[in-house]
Amino acid sequence: MRHRLAAGNWKMHGLAADLAEIDALLAAHPAPACEVVVCPPATLLSRLAARLDRTPYMAGGQDCHAAPKGAHTGDIAAAMLADAGASFVILGPSERRADHGETSALVAAKARAARAAGLTPILCLGETEAERDAGRTLEVLSAQLAESLPDGSDAALVLAYEPVWAIGSGRTPTPAQIAEAHGHLRSQLARHLGAGPAQAVRLLYGGSVKPENAAAIFAVPEVDGALVGGASLKAAEFGAIIAALGAAA
Ligand code: PGA
Repeated sequence: MRHRLAAGNWKMHGLAADLAEIDALLAAHPAPACEVVVCPPATLLSRLAARLDRTPYMAGGQDCHAAPKGAHTGDIAAAMLADAGASFVILGPSERRADHGETSALVAAKARAARAAGLTPILCLGETEAERDAGRTLEVLSAQLAESLPDGSDAALVLAYEPVWAIGSGRTPTPAQIAEAHGHLRSQLARHLGAGPAQAVRLLYGGSVKPENAAAIFAVPEVDGALVGGASLKAAEFGAIIAALGAAA
């Protein structure tokens, strides 16, 4: 039985004052019926983690370096995220693949570093619109998964399917398209990890998840939760998504 997970990715949003949204979320949903992790910018991580102490909510980081430490100005090591209170880290989101040219091989190296620091990677993959239009979605997902998976992966891994064209666009795939992608990822995971471990990996959907579409997305087979960008910034919206996920459990 996989525990459902709602992951909020604040991306490059959030100043100290925005932690008031977390207080509002905790007040409105003190005991969610699913797991919830909030991934703020690194500057807010330790303050967020302090807010979440002794609550069921968890904190996560956004990205880490593949090396445990070193002369890498501006980068953050996985152990630093863990030290600041993170238990998860988002790796390989489309924005880092596009803005920073991250390859799946680098994502796998980062995932290894994350696991060595005791963090659970939330490994992101997804096709571009051109790849979908060319009928290459499943092939792209297979290749990204094969190249992004760290060695010895097991249940301590979360996968997030984020079609690039659905991120921040207000557009979402149909339930059938999500089911096809998630079913494919589950069967590919079984090839890489074996059937038992593959069943334990949670598959999140990401891309324009909103209160209005959450219940329909969570009803899709093999969807174990969501990676939420824009809608995770506001307590009312993220709270409604958390409630929908809890109700779907
Ligand atoms: P969005 O971001 O919810 O703002 O579309 C989702 C994502 O980056 O996966």
